[in-house]
Amino acid sequence: MAIPLPDGLATPALVVDPDVLDRNISRMAEASRSQGFALRPHAKSHKCAQIADRQLRAGARGLSVATISEAEAFARVGVDDLFIAYPVWLDAGKAQRLRRLADYVALRVGVESVEGAQRLGKAVRGSVRPVEVLVEVDSGSHRTGVQPHAAGEVGKVAADAGLDVVGVFTFPGHGYGHGAQAHERAARDEERALGEAAKVLRDLGLDVRVVSGGSTPTVGQWQPGAVNELRPGVYVFNDATQLAIGTCGVEDLALAAAATVISVPAPDRFVLDVGSKVLGSDRSSWVSGHGYLPQFPQGTITGLWEHHAVVRLPEGVRGPRLGALVAVVPNHICTPVNLADELLVVRDREVIDRWPVTARGANT
Ligand SMILES: Cc1ncc(COP(=O)(O)O)c(C=O)c1O
Repeated sequence: MAIPLPDGLATPALVVDPDVLDRNISRMAEASRSQGFALRPHAKSHKCAQIADRQLRAGARGLSVATISEAEAFARVGVDDLFIAYPVWLDAGKAQRLRRLADYVALRVGVESVEGAQRLGKAVRGSVRPVEVLVEVDSGSHRTGVQPHAAGEVGKVAADAGLDVVGVFTFPGHGYGHGAQAHERAARDEERALGEAAKVLRDLGLDVRVVSGGSTPTVGQWQPGAVNELRPGVYVFNDATQLAIGTCGVEDLALAAAATVISVPAPDRFVLDVGSKVLGSDRSSWVSGHGYLPQFPQGTITGLWEHHAVVRLPEGVRGPRLGALVAVVPNHICTPVNLADELLVVRDREVIDRWPVTARGANT
């Protein structure tokens, strides 16, 4: 990642390279277009109106979100086609909010249980626009989602509850493994699971139009045919995990936390003013520390506190001086973005814009 940091920058701060960001967005848009996939990026990775706008102008059909409040936040800034890619469980308050949303945006919602579908049907009965539903299928990550053969029961109950059942979706979390083979295997699982579930629903007479899959590791691995919509999220910025599992290169990293060296206790150790309250604390088994340091690629963040990151350097590698600015690429970008008020857009060592994190903390 380039992002040379501006002198005198107040840290910690999240900085974005707009040129790398735009390249990531246009590459994904072009790849989807050329293979005939609709693109519906997951906006939980950026939560930012300016970035959503760039994705939509590049050709995204709409956005995916994880919560009703993310949908509300993006609807407020004018996004009118939203998929809550999550098996929403509606209490009375959420039912009311979802119903309001359904009156003024094109809304899709995930379901994965009979009870969830019934609650959803009741909540949006009589809404101005029909709410579309996608049945969630487990393609191998064993998070949420029914087994493909069981999609029919949920789909039928949803249709009987007055919902427009338009398709199926899955999240192939098990595609987060090292190397193209792991990504490819998960993509095949996705195609198989979604294909089977779509057939089950079609056999019931439902008009399945959307077969939605994808995450940043599997999108490049699909064969046209089974799936027709992609929902990658992290690709806009990429992060240390994507770098470690081989889905991006250093030149594709578009976001970093800018930090200041606040202590140099030993020649092989320095301490930065970023901790888990800025970087998040996700640490998958593919990464070796708590973030990637483009200026010190041999360095490892071995210790992370709320406001401190301790970096170790191998013998003989010279560290930064006290007060120097150091960029840290977070392990998993979605959490740091959610912790920040704004993203600083940096070009040629200058902050050229400040983008608010529109849906910051929108987790309900
Ligand atoms: C339901 C769903 N769809 C899409 C995505 C985007 O995947 P990625 O973050 O790997 O790009 C996620 C990420 O967690 C997700 O949970």
